[in-house]
Amino acid sequence: MPLSQRTTLTQFLIEQRRRHPSASGDFNALVLDVALACKAIARSVAFGALGGVLGAQAGSINVQGEEQKKLDVISNQLFVSANEWGGHLAGMASEEMDEPYNIPSIYPRGKYLLVFDPLDGSSNIDVNVSVGSIFSILRAPQDVIDSGRDVTAADFLQPGCQQLAAGYALYGPSTMLVLSVGTGVHGFTLDPNLGEFFLSHPDIRVPEETQEFAINASNSRFWELPVKRYVDECLAGKTGPRGKDFNMRWIASMVAEAHRILMRGGVFLYPRDMRDPTKPGRLRLLYEANPVGFLMEQAGGRASTGREPILHVQPTSLHQRIGLVFGSKSEVERIERYHREPTPIKDDNPLFGERSLFRD
Ligand code: F6P
Repeated sequence: MPLSQRTTLTQFLIEQRRRHPSASGDFNALVLDVALACKAIARSVAFGALGGVLGAQAGSINVQGEEQKKLDVISNQLFVSANEWGGHLAGMASEEMDEPYNIPSIYPRGKYLLVFDPLDGSSNIDVNVSVGSIFSILRAPQDVIDSGRDVTAADFLQPGCQQLAAGYALYGPSTMLVLSVGTGVHGFTLDPNLGEFFLSHPDIRVPEETQEFAINASNSRFWELPVKRYVDECLAGKTGPRGKDFNMRWIASMVAEAHRILMRGGVFLYPRDMRDPTKPGRLRLLYEANPVGFLMEQAGGRASTGREPILHVQPTSLHQRIGLVFGSKSEVERIERYHREPTPIKDDNPLFGERSLFRD
């Protein structure tokens, strides 16, 4: 397609901004800085072993108690350096930083908060499978904006419905930036020759119906009964209560799973389980569940804890974990219904009886 007929990310943002004549342009500049960080990460990821960036960062454990990969640390640094100088941010929070990051005093402070997982799916880095970055933009509390004070964790504890924008970059066979500024979900593909994101997937909608689910089945013995019931019914296929066959996928990069679901439907579950009561779920609310939840809802899908919409959850801590289910609306609603209904547990119930695949 000739260049004149392509829409760059910058053009797209300018056109969105024209709908808000009072907007200062700070927000657009912030999104472009985030996009720059993603382009830099895409380059590091692309060099792989040749860039000397694979493997673990010696002796480095993040706040989650997880070993940091070299690329986790590099990506976090790229996010920080691309976004700290512009004057748009009051502070940042990241999966890779225990405490919120305050904008150094040599730079001006702005009215937004940026929350991110700089490299999601780290277990896939060394095996050359897609990874991604996830980000969420919030408005800083008014007293932070007025006073320019340092941010605290409490300033970030806003429910997902208050996000102004959210998105992810996917470092796959091609690099994509998928973004919502609250007017639907739009996908941009990085032109590697020009180093520019171009609008390639306008107005993405999650297909309503699906026959594909994603869950880490090795955790099945820890699942709660509504989840067992749902998966059991999918596995039963045509002969079960759903009356159709399902396919299953598990990439172990949530960004890649979210992208597949935005493209062709499906449902993803990393539910709350009974493995460790101190960890209600695996994924992090502020920089994984909320941004992906925002994108799903903006694309006509749904995101939930299984019990309530993810975007309604009041966060209680910066690195809080949560059970997450997202994707095609009807499937997520079905899973929510299973959480509300008393689950059949009697042995004579075909789902959880002698022949159930996921019988306790
Ligand atoms: O940090 C989150 C993450 O890497 C997600 O991207 C992915 O969905 C999940 O963890 C994979 O978890 P597991 O290793 O339990 O399959």
